[in-house]
Amino acid sequence: MHFSHMILITLTFLLLPPSSSSSSSSSPETINNQPRCLNPFLQHKNDSLKDYILSLANHVDTANWIKNIRREIHEYPELAFEEIRTSSVIRRELDKMSIGYRWPVARTGVVAFVGSGLPPFVALRADMDALPIQELVEWEHKSKIDGKMHACGHDAHVAMLLGAAKILKQLETELQGTVILIFQPAEETGEGAKEMIKEGVVEKVEAIFGLHLVLSSDSGVVATREGEFLAGCGCFKAVIHGCMIPPQDPILAVSASILSLQHIVSRESDPLDTPVVSVAMVRGGSDDLNVIPDSVSIAGTYRAFSKKTFYALGERIQEVIKSQSLVYGCSSVVDLEGNEFPRVPPTVNDKRIYDHVIRVSNLIVGEGNVEIAPVFMGSEDFAFYMDMDGDDVKIPGCMAFLGMKNRSILHHQHSPHSPYYTVDEDVLPTGSALHAAFAYTYLLILTSHPSTDHYYIYIYMLTTYLPNTYLN
Ligand SMILES: *[C@@H]1O[C@H](CO)[C@@H](O)[C@H](O)[C@H]1NC(C)=O
Ligand SMILES: *[C@@H]1O[C@H](CO)[C@@H](O)[C@H](O)[C@H]1NC(C)=O
Repeated sequence: MHFSHMILITLTFLLLPPSSSSSSSSSPETINNQPRCLNPFLQHKNDSLKDYILSLANHVDTANWIKNIRREIHEYPELAFEEIRTSSVIRRELDKMSIGYRWPVARTGVVAFVGSGLPPFVALRADMDALPIQELVEWEHKSKIDGKMHACGHDAHVAMLLGAAKILKQLETELQGTVILIFQPAEETGEGAKEMIKEGVVEKVEAIFGLHLVLSSDSGVVATREGEFLAGCGCFKAVIHGCMIPPQDPILAVSASILSLQHIVSRESDPLDTPVVSVAMVRGGSDDLNVIPDSVSIAGTYRAFSKKTFYALGERIQEVIKSQSLVYGCSSVVDLEGNEFPRVPPTVNDKRIYDHVIRVSNLIVGEGNVEIAPVFMGSEDFAFYMDMDGDDVKIPGCMAFLGMKNRSILHHQHSPHSPYYTVDEDVLPTGSALHAAFAYTYLLILTSHPSTDHYYIYIYMLTTYLPNTYLN
C-alpha cells in the first residue's frame, strides 16, 4: 500500500461530515471514482478509527466478556508449562471468533493470526502462567487450586489480548498485513519466550508489543520508557571445595568471596549505573564443630539495566568467586545459567516502537494519561523477543505498563506476587484497545510509502475513519 500525505489529507477532508444532508444520500457513494465500502460493523461513518476501536473495546458485552475470561482463568491458575486449561479457554474463544491459531506451541502456548495472512507481521504478546502462591483474597472468583494463584496479572493479560483479537477481527479486512497474537507460557520461570522463539513464532515479525498491568501508575495510564526499561536478572550458584592436602577451609574462602562480591557494586560500578549483586544463600558445615566441611555453596542474584553491565556482572561474579577461592587454597565451580535459574536479559525498548506506543497511547487514553516510566528493577522474559542471547533474534519491540492504581479500591490493592494481589478489571478494555491500536496502526506504517510522514497516520487515526481500501 502506498499513500502520500497529500492524498490522505484530501481523502480525510472529503470524508468529513457533509454540511448538507443532500450530499450524503448518493448511493453507492464514490470518492475519486472508488467505491465506498465501509466496514459493515461501523456504526457511524463519522467515527474516527480511535473512537471505533474504543467503542468496540468498551461495549458492555465485550467488557463483560473480557472480565469473565479473566475470572475464569483466575479460578484455575496453572504454573509454567502447565497451562493446559488456560490454553483451552483461549482456543475456545478463538474458535468462537473464527480466528485461526497454532497449538500447541512451546508445549502449552497458542499463537493466533488475524489479518491478511500475508506480511508484514506484527506481534502482540500476553503471558499465561500463574505463581506458586496461596491466594488469600476472599472473593467469588478466588483461585480453586491450592497453592497456586494468578498474582502477577497474567490472567488479565490473556483476557486483554483476547479482547484485542475481537477488535482486530472486526477490522480484519482492513488490516494491512497480519497480527500475530502470542499467548506465551512460562514467563515467571523465564523460559516461555525462549521456547516460543525457538519454535519460530516471531520469524518475519517486524515489531512486537507487550503490556503489563502495574500498580505504579493510576488506572488507565500507560507508562513506558525508551531504551533500557526493566532490569536483566541472573542468578549464580557456586560450590567451593577445600581441595588441597591438608584440606583448606572453604568457609573462609566463601566469606572472602561474599565480601569481595560487595565491592563489585560499591567500588567497580559507575554509581549512576545501578546494578545489584546479592548473595542470598550460604550452605555448609555441620554441628560437628571440630570438622572443616569439604565444600560450601553460595547462591545469589544480580541485576542491571544495561546489557553491557549485565553480562559483565555475570563474568565478574564468576571471576571474584574463583579468584578468592584460589587465594584460600580452594577450588570452585560457578554456575551462571543453570536450568534452575534461567537468565533474563534487560528489557530494552526500541526507540521507533516506543515512539509509536507513545503516540498511539496518547490517542487511545489521552495525552494526560501517558507517562514516562522510571526504570524498574523487575525483569520480564519479553526481553528475549527483543534480544535473544546467542541467537540472531532481535525484534524491535516495546513493553509498556498499563496502570491500575485506583483510589477507590486502594486499600485492597497489593503488589504483584502478594497473596492479596487484585486487578482493577475496569482497565482491561483499555488494554485491549491499546493492543489493537498498536498493531493496526503499525501495519499501516509498515505498508505506507517510505516518504510518508507517519505523523499523518496518527492524525488519520484521530480524525475520520477511513477504510484503507481508499489508500491502495
Ligand atoms: C456525523 O457528525 C455530525 C457532526 O458531528 C453529526 O451532525 C451527524 O449526525 C453525524 N452522523 C452520524 C451518522 O453519526
Ligand atoms: C476504580 O474502581 C472502582 C470500584 O471498583 C470502579 O468503579 C472504577 O471503574 C475504577 N476506575 C477505573 C479507572 O478503573
